[in-house]
Amino acid sequence: MPDFDAVILGAGAAGLFCAGMAGQLGVKVLLIDHAEKVAEKIRISGGGRCNFTNRDLDPRAPQKHFLGGNAHFCRSALARYTPQDFIALVRKHGIAHHEKHKGQLFGDHSSDDFIRMLLAECATGGVTHWQPCRVEAIAHDGEAYTLQTSRGPVRAPRVVIATGGLSIPKIGATDFGHRVAQQFGLRVAPLRPALVPLTFDGEAWQPFAQLAGLALPVRIETGEKKERVAFDEDLLFTHRGLSGPAVLQISSYWREGQAIRIDLAPGQDLAGELMQAKARSRKLVANELAQWVPARLADAWAQQDPALQRPVNEAGDKALQQLAQRLQRWELVPTGSEGYRKAEVTAGGVDTRDLSQQTMESKQPGLYFIGEVVDVTGWLGGYNFQWAWASANACAQALAKPAE
Ligand code: FDA
Repeated sequence: MPDFDAVILGAGAAGLFCAGMAGQLGVKVLLIDHAEKVAEKIRISGGGRCNFTNRDLDPRAPQKHFLGGNAHFCRSALARYTPQDFIALVRKHGIAHHEKHKGQLFGDHSSDDFIRMLLAECATGGVTHWQPCRVEAIAHDGEAYTLQTSRGPVRAPRVVIATGGLSIPKIGATDFGHRVAQQFGLRVAPLRPALVPLTFDGEAWQPFAQLAGLALPVRIETGEKKERVAFDEDLLFTHRGLSGPAVLQISSYWREGQAIRIDLAPGQDLAGELMQAKARSRKLVANELAQWVPARLADAWAQQDPALQRPVNEAGDKALQQLAQRLQRWELVPTGSEGYRKAEVTAGGVDTRDLSQQTMESKQPGLYFIGEVVDVTGWLGGYNFQWAWASANACAQALAKPAE
C-alpha cells in the first residue's frame, strides 16, 4: 500500500494551495479529487476572471468581512497569510491583474492562469495528484488513516479535508467533508446557501417581474438593532426575484421569514424632491421620478397606484410622500433563495470549536479541515478565496512539523 505523509482530499482552491505549499516544505503529499476537471470553481469564479483576494481585508477585525459561529476563529490564519502574500505569488507567476471596486483583485485574462499557477506550485512541491479518484472509506487505526479509493488503498498519518461546500453540485460539490467530520464525532454547524439570489412569491412579484435585467445602486439591509447589517451595492431584478451584489451580500445574513429593506434612491431626499417638483412641474409623476431612479422602475411603481398616474402638480401630497417612503424603505420578505444551484458559497460547516485556529487540525488527531468546508464564510469580493489560501497555509505549515 502506498504511504504518504499526508493525503489531501479536494483539489480546489484550498486543497491545491495546501498541497503545493506542504510539498515544498518537504511533506510527501497525495492530492485526490473525484471530479474529471481540476478546480472547476476557480475556473468559473469572478465571471471567469477569478476575484482572487481583497485588499480591504483586515485580519485584526475578521468579523467585518466573515461570518460563522466564531468570526474571530479565522484571525490567526488570515494574519499569517495576507492578501499581499498571495499577490506576491501571483506576481511571481507573472499573472496580470487589476483592482475593481472595493479592493477586489481580478485576473486580467482568465481564471485558468490561477489554476495553472496552483498546479505549477504542486509540481514544484513534488505532489502526487490522483484525479479523478473516488474515496470510498476512511478509517483510523490509532496510528494512521487508511483510505479506500478507486485507485486502491492508501495510508497516511495525516488527512486534510478540502472538499468545499455544497454549492453548484453539477461541478462536483458534495457533503463529503461534513460527513467525514461527523464520522469522527466532530460538530457541523447547520448548512445553508449563501451569496445567493433571493426569490419572492410568484403573484406578488408580478409587477416587478417585468423589470428583469434592470440594475441600480441601492442600500440594502436586514436584521434589527445590533443584528442590523447594511450594504451599498448594485441590485439586479430577475424573473423570480432579486440578485446582484447587494442581494448576494445580504443573503448571507438573511434568515427565512425575515424582511429585507431596500432604499432604491440612496442618498436622496425623494419626498423633498417630489414636493419641489409638484410646485414647478406638470410632468407625469413617473417622468419626474425618473430623475432619481431608472425610468422602468419609476413606471412600474407609478403603475401600481392610480393616484400617481397623473401630472405631479395634480398628485396629492400624501400620495407623493408615501411613494417616496416606499421607494426609500421598500420592505419585503423573500420566500426563499435560489439554493445551492446558484449559491456562490455554503454558510455553516465544520464547527470551529472542534478545530485549532493555529493549524486547522480537528479534535480528531491528524485530521485537518480547510477552506469552505469549515464554518467560515466570507463576503462577496475575494474574501472566500483569501480564506482558502490562508487556512491552507496554516495547515501546510503544521503538516511540515512532526506530529506530536
Ligand atoms: P472548492 O469548491 O474550490 O474545491 C473543493 C474540491 O473538492 C472540488 O474540486 C471538488 O471536486 C472536490 N470534492 C468534493 N467532494 C469530493 C469528494 N467526495 N471526493 C473527492 N473530492 C471531492 N470566491 C472568491 O473569493 N472570489 C470569486 O470570484 C468567487 N467567485 C465564485 C463564483 C461562483 C459561481 C461560485 C460557485 C463560487 C465563487 N467563489 C468565489 C467562492 C469560491 O469559489 C469558494 O469559496 C472556494 O472555491 C472554496 O475553496 P475550497 O477549496 O474550499 O473548495
